[in-house]
Amino acid sequence: MKNPLKNPIVPILFASLLLTLSAAFTAAQTARVFRLDGGNSTYAFGVNERGELQALYWGGRLGAEDTIPPAHSFPQVASFDSSYTTTPQEYASWGAGLYTEPALKITFADGNRDLVLHFVSATAKGPQAMDLLLKDISREIYVTLHYSMDANTGILARSADIENREKQPVVIEQAAAAQWTLPPARYTFSYLTGRWAGEWTLNQEPILGGARVIESRRGTTGHQANPWFAISRDDSQSSVGPFAAGEEHGEVWFGALAWSGSWRITVEHTQLDAVRVTGGFNPFDFGYKLSPGEHLETPVFYGGYSDHGLGGASRLLHRFETARILPHAPDPKPRPVIYNSWEATEFNVNEAGQMALAEKAASIGVDRFVMDDGWFGQRKDDHAGLGDWYVNPQKFPHGLKPLIDKVHSLGMDFGLWVEPEMVNPDSDLYRKHPDWVLNFPGRPRSESRNQLVLNLARQDVRDYVEGFLDKLLTENDIAFLKWDYNRNWAEPGWDQVPIDEQKRVYVQFIRNLYSILAELRAKHPKIEIESCSGGGGRVDLGILRYADEVWPSDNTDPFDRLSMQDGFTYAYTPQIMMAWVTDSPHWLNHRSTSLTYRMLSSMQGSLGIGANLNHWTQEDFATAKRLISAYHAVQRTIVRGDLYRLISPLNGSEFSSTETVSSDKSQAVVFAFADATQEGRGFPLLQLQGLDSNAEYKLGWIEGKALSDTPERASGAWWMRHGLQLELRGDYRAAAFRLDRQP
Ligand code: GLA
Repeated sequence: MKNPLKNPIVPILFASLLLTLSAAFTAAQTARVFRLDGGNSTYAFGVNERGELQALYWGGRLGAEDTIPPAHSFPQVASFDSSYTTTPQEYASWGAGLYTEPALKITFADGNRDLVLHFVSATAKGPQAMDLLLKDISREIYVTLHYSMDANTGILARSADIENREKQPVVIEQAAAAQWTLPPARYTFSYLTGRWAGEWTLNQEPILGGARVIESRRGTTGHQANPWFAISRDDSQSSVGPFAAGEEHGEVWFGALAWSGSWRITVEHTQLDAVRVTGGFNPFDFGYKLSPGEHLETPVFYGGYSDHGLGGASRLLHRFETARILPHAPDPKPRPVIYNSWEATEFNVNEAGQMALAEKAASIGVDRFVMDDGWFGQRKDDHAGLGDWYVNPQKFPHGLKPLIDKVHSLGMDFGLWVEPEMVNPDSDLYRKHPDWVLNFPGRPRSESRNQLVLNLARQDVRDYVEGFLDKLLTENDIAFLKWDYNRNWAEPGWDQVPIDEQKRVYVQFIRNLYSILAELRAKHPKIEIESCSGGGGRVDLGILRYADEVWPSDNTDPFDRLSMQDGFTYAYTPQIMMAWVTDSPHWLNHRSTSLTYRMLSSMQGSLGIGANLNHWTQEDFATAKRLISAYHAVQRTIVRGDLYRLISPLNGSEFSSTETVSSDKSQAVVFAFADATQEGRGFPLLQLQGLDSNAEYKLGWIEGKALSDTPERASGAWWMRHGLQLELRGDYRAAAFRLDRQP
């Protein structure tokens, strides 16, 4: 055969396929178009002639009366491409010649692997929510697609429920939560990668032909990539280059997957220039046996749209996370300023030492005192003790009560570190239950940080973990748990269940983790939880339904944190971004910085102190006390306001700056950092954003100063258009100020 691409393309009309694929399909159903509106977005899809659910529109909000043309399957462009593969489906099953990424792939008991889903019915589930029922053309596999759009941000929640009504089990080899289709255009893909102590690196690259995958195969979210993406339409007018993703202008489609287990997001640029994003369970080593009558519910994949660039996209996500995801949504309270001695004392905790630190922490205005690792079992270092959750009698001869009482008497509440899913082989728990860990019998059990992962998918292990945590919280007045998770899976075996069910570990482990968290929160409504995994290894919208905050990184170097915090905020709100001030020179980079610089770097998020207060001078205490008090006064604006990344710290920039504006525009808080002044260059002109142009704002310094002729009061228009010039030079120097709207 001649190369078809060189020949005139002869479309095979969908009409000829209609009868063969879906004889029962009626013309009335063909015209079905479903539309969801919220915020500044419209999302629409419809049923095409064959009965497939097809993507129609995702972008800026359309007029209420606008008609969206019905779905028509795309033509076959060559004999090498079925119309089934070129038509952008909402949830494409593998069968019928699909060459693009499938949402669903199944093997039936008789060896059949062909699956073609057609629309059955739609059910309204609320003002902007609906369920779409799909079914295979001949077999009893049903898929319910859930859609629910947030009225305020236009962020759409999508997930799928797969049900087996066959008489035999099937194996699900791949199951996405959703697939998203973008209009044909040139795009830039933004995503976050990292490693331990180096999380939150923002990567940006053009989307070219082929597929780009970000994923975790680790059984957990992972430091190495985060389940978030943003895709910016390239702006040929951009002054920064053809692939520049605008920070404050241009169209951006973004999404985040709510799953804390192995996950995958695939961004495809198909041969027809369509961009499709598929995300859900990672199909690597997946194989979920679904018995007759059983369901598999996928995680939720959230997607949104902004026409205000990446800045607009992240502001929508921040608002959505606080209003819809976090445990205390829609109005989670700003995080207490914490003290934690981990970097100062490591495992060497005891009653007298912690009490002495608590007194010092209280003197500077700390709200919460947290005791980290080392308080339990035979935990002298990281070789022993995990799994034995009794208070170490040598370090705390009278239990935790005297310390907790002391902390309360100082006006703080008390938090405690736990790592519930782990066990050291040197522990009573492991000696008693060596079969409780993930392993393949007869194979090595690979240790990391001298520990193994408990198989939380097992009901007995799940119950043990919930039981000891419940007891700990019942017996002690604990306000907060720092919930850690310090390794990833190896040898993910589960030999207590039949061989064909063992791979369910990827789903069941995470479900049990979520159910423990949910039950603990229900039984102890006052408890607050931080998700930590050796820093930022478990940050995603799944865990954030149960966690009030996260630990973004074990790297607390205030300079490194500027770019990490910048990266973090593309996907997650500063409300959950804990940031400690620790000692200088820093243990990781050996960099020396002033306490003021360290404080201001941490004040961009939810502030904590992690330094050894026993080594502080009177001047250090005074500086910290003054800045914690200034922070408390504006904290709500910093963590809940609209964030503008004014000057990016990325790409070797020697300057950076962020601004947050309260939702009623009555206050703005600005941070500025000069990290290495070169050739005498002054700090760039700061033109603010998001203020009320006509209102008058008064400038108040938290730290630093501007050029002497800067007015103390000026209109929003002045601060945004004229801007101000900071007096900020040197190495690792920082400034911060607030603007308050005048009555
Ligand atoms: C992890 C955490 C740290 C600290 C240690 C304790 O590395 O990220 O903050 O809690 O564990 O072992």
